[in-house]
Amino acid sequence: MDPARGKTLDVGNFGITQAQLPAHDAGPFDPRNLFASPKNSFEMEIGTGKGTFLVQQAVRQPDTNFLGIEWTAEFWRYAADRVRRRELDNIRVLHTDATELCRFWLPDEIATVIHLYFSDPWPKSRHNKRRVIQDETLLHFHRILKMGGELRLVTDHVELWKWYQDHATRNANLFDIKPFVSPESAKEGEMVGTNFERKFAREGRPFMAMTLVKRQVPMAVRVAQRSMHHSVGNSVGNSSSQPPNPRSFSRHPDPFPL
Ligand SMILES: C[S@@+](CC[C@H](N)C(=O)[O-])C[C@H]1O[C@@H](n2cnc3c(N)ncnc32)[C@H](O)[C@@H]1O
Repeated sequence: MDPARGKTLDVGNFGITQAQLPAHDAGPFDPRNLFASPKNSFEMEIGTGKGTFLVQQAVRQPDTNFLGIEWTAEFWRYAADRVRRRELDNIRVLHTDATELCRFWLPDEIATVIHLYFSDPWPKSRHNKRRVIQDETLLHFHRILKMGGELRLVTDHVELWKWYQDHATRNANLFDIKPFVSPESAKEGEMVGTNFERKFAREGRPFMAMTLVKRQVPMAVRVAQRSMHHSVGNSVGNSSSQPPNPRSFSRHPDPFPL
């Protein structure tokens, strides 16, 4: 898997590695401080791939900071190099597992939008726990989003769509389910215009999408969210209570090589 096709890539200051983050038990890490204007509104894309959505949309929202998160080193490097060449100072691309980043590092109420487009479906049921959307991650996304903030989901995968619908319905106390609205950068007939969307559109696959809008929750839920955050050994769900080891990322096979 070499999206660069042998070209030498340079991530400059736009690609951030997990090793550059503070220790996971040193307190929350606020990624807004990676940017020259940290007070600007902040959006995250999980599973950035080659960075197509970010580079298309960030030029249309110059007053918004975007953090792409990508765990496959080759794609992370490719996306960060692309951002550097275009000098898009409102984008940074972080090489890590986004779910672990949310769980161990990110503080409350920092993001206005979390984008998740064509997430890996992990179709075998024994791998379902590797899907990004889980009850636990929804609690973290809810905590990380500002009030009224949005989680935007698009997939071509029918089973993963059913999984999204089940999770959204089960967590209706956290999020209202709303229709998906395409970003300004999407071309005619596109949902978002990511690399995978363009590839799948050529194959004639259907796309499904929704927006989950953060709701106000009772204090008891907020207290539970805070106790889950940054509390090693106090987790719910299936993931380990240890922070991720960056060297292990390459062991995650990408089921859809570009
Ligand atoms: C199917 S690709 C889609 C890429 C891009 N969103 C697009 O639509 O072209 C899914 C990407 O998500 C990345 N990914 C999957 N799970 C991730 C996670 N937990 N953290 C960070 N990246 C993840 C994969 O490495 C892969 O590049």
